[in-house]
Amino acid sequence: MEHFSTPIVHNAPICERYHVMKLGWPPQFAPPLPGQFLTIQPPPGTGALLRRPFAVSDYDPLLSQIEIVYERRGSVTSHLAACRPGESLDILAPLGKAFPEPTGSARPVLLAGGIGMGPMFFLATSLLSRDTNPVLILGARDSTLIPDLPLFERIDTIIATDDGSRGFHGTSIDALHSFEADGNDMNVEYFACGPMPMLQALAVHAEQTSRKCWVSIEQTMGCAVGACMGCVIPVHGGNGYARVCTEGPIFDSQEIAWT
Ligand SMILES: Cc1cc2nc3c(=O)[nH]c(=O)nc-3n(C[C@H](O)[C@H](O)[C@H](O)COP(=O)(O)OP(=O)(O)OC[C@H]3O[C@@H](n4cnc5c(N)ncnc54)[C@H](O)[C@@H]3O)c2cc1C
Ligand code: FES
Repeated sequence: MEHFSTPIVHNAPICERYHVMKLGWPPQFAPPLPGQFLTIQPPPGTGALLRRPFAVSDYDPLLSQIEIVYERRGSVTSHLAACRPGESLDILAPLGKAFPEPTGSARPVLLAGGIGMGPMFFLATSLLSRDTNPVLILGARDSTLIPDLPLFERIDTIIATDDGSRGFHGTSIDALHSFEADGNDMNVEYFACGPMPMLQALAVHAEQTSRKCWVSIEQTMGCAVGACMGCVIPVHGGNGYARVCTEGPIFDSQEIAWT
């Protein structure tokens, strides 16, 4: 884990509400891995105290840059949306556990719900560079929340919108069922990030079909380094709880005691 100040290299909207930000990554630091996250110290004037967590959505070793995709939600993300290249941010990274390697010959199926797309983009790019054959299912409420990215040209991508305004009409889980009903390869392994109901539905499906499923949990955080217990979720085994910031954010879906 490194604590450093780094310049914003690029910051722009990619669709309604979502923005992409690229930041310098000191080349001497170990690279972040798909699934890991960073925290940003709220800049002065935001009125916020706690560092804000964001999943890493890409890493470019040639340019020494990392990327996040973020949604304008409250004071800090609204401030970030107004930041200009050249301004610096206080970063703690990389944090948390990464997604594991896909098991054996299983085809990786990546599910992203809403702003959960960031870590799935990073995982997709990483799997492509290793000659796997991943599928990306990207679900959103409507077409205004779907960016157009070059990545979609390089990977089998299924876009799903709740209102049918773009791609498949239904949720990302509906799109997954349709993909599988079309007789696609059943030797698959799931990797997902998105709203809890989506992750829980996927966990149930994975259990019923005896497939491995890895989920990235976005839980409100305090310290983000394992000290405050502010981010715990119920799990099976141990003392019944796990810290999302250090034992996650990636979990085997069967490990979580879904409520
Ligand atoms: C491991 C992890 C990875 C994350 N990755 C991303 C990412 O890649 N992109 C992204 O946009 N956001 C991500 N988040 C959520 C992000 O941290 C919050 O959106 C951000 O902290 C909001 O800060 P704010 O000051 O703008 O809003 P605040 O004023 O703090 O909150 C505004 C509203 O946003 C919602 N919110 C705040 N924090 C969270 C949270 N952790 N989870 C769900 N809802 C929240 C609540 O409804 C809250 O009322 C991640 C969170 C975690 C824990
Ligand atoms: S946020 Fe403090 S222990 Fe996880």
